[in-house]
This record gives sequence, C-alpha cells and structure tokens, in this order.
Amino acid sequence: MSEYLDDIAAAMVAEGQGILAADESTGTIKKRFDSINVESTEDKRRDYREMLFRADDAMNNYISGVILYDETLRQAARDGTPLVDLIKNANAVPGIKVDMGAKDLAGFPGEKITEGLDGLRERLAEYHDLGARFAKWRAVIDINEDAPSAYAMKANAQALARYASLCQEAGIVPIVEPEVLMDGPDATHDIEDCYEVTEAALNTVFSELYDAGVLLEGMILKPNMVIAGKNCPDQADAEQVAELTIRCLRSTVPAAVPGIAFLSGGQSDEQATQNLSLMNAMGNLPWALTFSYGRALQAAALKAWGGQDANVAAAQAAFTHRARMNGLAALGKWSSEQEKAA
Ligand code: 13P
Repeated sequence: MSEYLDDIAAAMVAEGQGILAADESTGTIKKRFDSINVESTEDKRRDYREMLFRADDAMNNYISGVILYDETLRQAARDGTPLVDLIKNANAVPGIKVDMGAKDLAGFPGEKITEGLDGLRERLAEYHDLGARFAKWRAVIDINEDAPSAYAMKANAQALARYASLCQEAGIVPIVEPEVLMDGPDATHDIEDCYEVTEAALNTVFSELYDAGVLLEGMILKPNMVIAGKNCPDQADAEQVAELTIRCLRSTVPAAVPGIAFLSGGQSDEQATQNLSLMNAMGNLPWALTFSYGRALQAAALKAWGGQDANVAAAQAAFTHRARMNGLAALGKWSSEQEKAA
C-alpha cells in the first residue's frame, strides 16, 4: 500500500468497507469481559482479538482498517504471528489509539479533556515502526443543563488538532473523533440538542484543524450521529436521525475530507446499521460515509465467544454477519430482510 496520507485515508474508507474499533483500553475491555463472565487476562484479550482478526470473510471483504490498543499492537497470535500481520494479510490497515483517555477538566465540573499529547511525537514514531498507519484520538462532549461549555469544546478541539498535526508529521492518518455522547451520565437531551452541540463541536474542530495546518485530505472524521440521548423519552426515528445527521455534516465538514466513519456510541447493532444505510442511500455526498464501530460490530461476537475456544467459529460467524450488514450499509443497500435472511 502507498505510504501517502491521502492514499491511506482512501483505503480506510474503501467502498463497502469500514473500520473495526477494537481499541478498548485495559479498563474498558475488562468491563466487556465482565459482561460475559470472563477474566480479563493478557492471553484472553489476545485470544479474543485473534478470533476477530482471523475471521477471514469479514476481514477481507468488509473491514478496511482496525483500531488497536497499545498492548494488541505488540501481541502475537498463539502461533507466534504478530496480530498486526493478521490485519495486514487481510488487506486491512492497522491503526492505534494514541490518546490517554478523557480526564476531568479543571474548573469545569462534569466536563472532560482528553490527555496524551506529552511525548506523542516519540510514541507515533514507534507506532509507525510497529506497523500502524493511522491513529485515533477521542474527545468526549457531554450534554446536560450546564454543558458543554465553549471552553471545553475549544480545549478538546485544540488537542485534536495538535494530535492530528503530529500524526501527519509521522506519516500516520489521524482519525479525529469528537464524540457528543448519547449515553453520558444524564443523556436526557433530545435530537435537536444533539444537533446544536454536534454542529458547534464540528465547527470548533475544523477551525482548529485549519489553524494547525492539518491536511484535510489526509484525515478521517469519526463523529457521532445526530441522535437523542438514550434516556430521552422522545426518540427520533431512523429517517430523522439520518436526515439531521447529514444536514449537520454537510454544514460543517469540508468536502476535502475523504471520509467520515461513525462511532456507534451505544446504539443497538441494527440501529447503527440502519442509520448508516439510510444516509448512504440518500446519495450525492461529498465524502465517503462508513462505520468505525466498536460495540455495534463486536457485541454479538463477544457474547457468542464467551471466552471458549469451542465457540470461536460461532463468534466469527456473528462478527462476519455484522461486518457484512455494515458493509451493505456503507453502500446504502442494507435492508431488514437481509438482516433476517441471515
Ligand atoms: P463504539 O462504536 O462502541 O462507540 O466505539 C467506537 C470508538 O472507537 C469509540 O472511541
């Protein structure tokens, strides 16, 4: 594969394909394993990720890139093959989460700032040596009565821009992820609130990216969809989510950005697929529009696996099904009939 940033970015949003977010930190993957009563050991985490990366049909046909956590980028499969080689062999691009998590923002109770800029240049050089060709940094923005503040949005956007610039210097494509939470502590906001905050967050991010001199052609945006908080009694239907999301993105994301890959954020598997498909079916979009799902790609596979070697094939089948459904959604061709037929 070409080493140019725009070629890497194009490969990450190849037609009918999307990104597997498998970059759960040690704390987050423990929560996922707790839900299936499996102890989170280094070997079990390896086994689980190896199961996913060896799902050949899914990886070859529907997955263009995989976001890894530091530990996984350094791990080998049971037979000694580096996990990163399993990804490359499937013609997918290996990527790495480089932020150090969202911490409390001093002076702004309830708001977060993502850390991880210190020493990032050196870490990116090492990650490039280890095979990573893209990276991810996630900022989180919660909506409640007092938040978000303009300051928190600006501070997070500046960090995203500094991260993105360092990535491009290192020959790594930055995934820029400002996530407006649908499942924060309160999560009672409606879809209009989400629209307003997402629009402001994206405008702030692109203003900072511009100031930092980030090459838009060599980045991928990973946004939330415009959707009500999970505790809002008034849930919009899929058509409304698709329409407002596209309207919001059209008004904020420059056409020079090659691709937008959504996070799933707590949507059900099928909801995340349906919404993406409806948006692509609208057609005539200036950017490729696809998925970069964590939970919505893995939940069924994690459950089917249950930590048992005997369940690897069933878990791979579950993952492949979701990957295929989302691959169809990236083409705007998913339907509930296809969902059921499988
Ligand atoms: P979800 O799709 O589970 O929201 O995770 C995607 C991700 O990478 C969040 O940073």
